[in-house]
Amino acid sequence: MELNKIIIGSDHAGFELKEYLKAKLEEKYDLIDAGTHSEESCHYPLFAKKVCESVLKENCFGILICGTGIGMSIMANRFNKIRAALCTTNFMAQMAREHNNANVLCIGARVLDNEKSKSIVNIFLNTEFDKENPRHKIRVDMFD
Ligand code: RB5
Repeated sequence: MELNKIIIGSDHAGFELKEYLKAKLEEKYDLIDAGTHSEESCHYPLFAKKVCESVLKENCFGILICGTGIGMSIMANRFNKIRAALCTTNFMAQMAREHNNANVLCIGARVLDNEKSKSIVNIFLNTEFDKENPRHKIRVDMFD
C-alpha cells in the first residue's frame, strides 16, 4: 500500500471542504485532486468513479466528499476491492481502519465542519488495520 499518496474528490457540495483539506494534506502527502474544480453543480457518481479507479490503480487511500457522504459511499462500494466508509466521528474513522481496513473515507460537507472533518481524516490516515486479530482479516476477505 502506498501510504503517502491520497486521491481526493468531491462534488459541488463538497468542493469547499475538499479545498480546505487539500491545503492541509498537501504539506505531508502526495495528493491527487480528481475534481470537481468549482461549485458548479455536478454529478457525484462520476467523481466517486474517478477516485476509486485511481485508488485501485495506485493502491493508496481515497477521500470522497459530497453533501452527506452517502451518495459517494454508495457509488464507491460498487467497486470490487474498494472498502468505503462513511464516517461522522473520530471513533468511526478509527474503526473503519482497524476493523474494516477501509481504503476510501467518505465525509459529508453538510454534516461536519472543517475542524471535525480534518480530525476524522487524520485519524483515518494514521490508523492501521488490526492484523493482530485474525478475525478482522477473515471478515474483510469475505467482502470480495
Ligand atoms: C448534492 O445536492 C447532494 O445530493 C450530494 O452532494 C450528496 O449529498 C449525495 O449523496
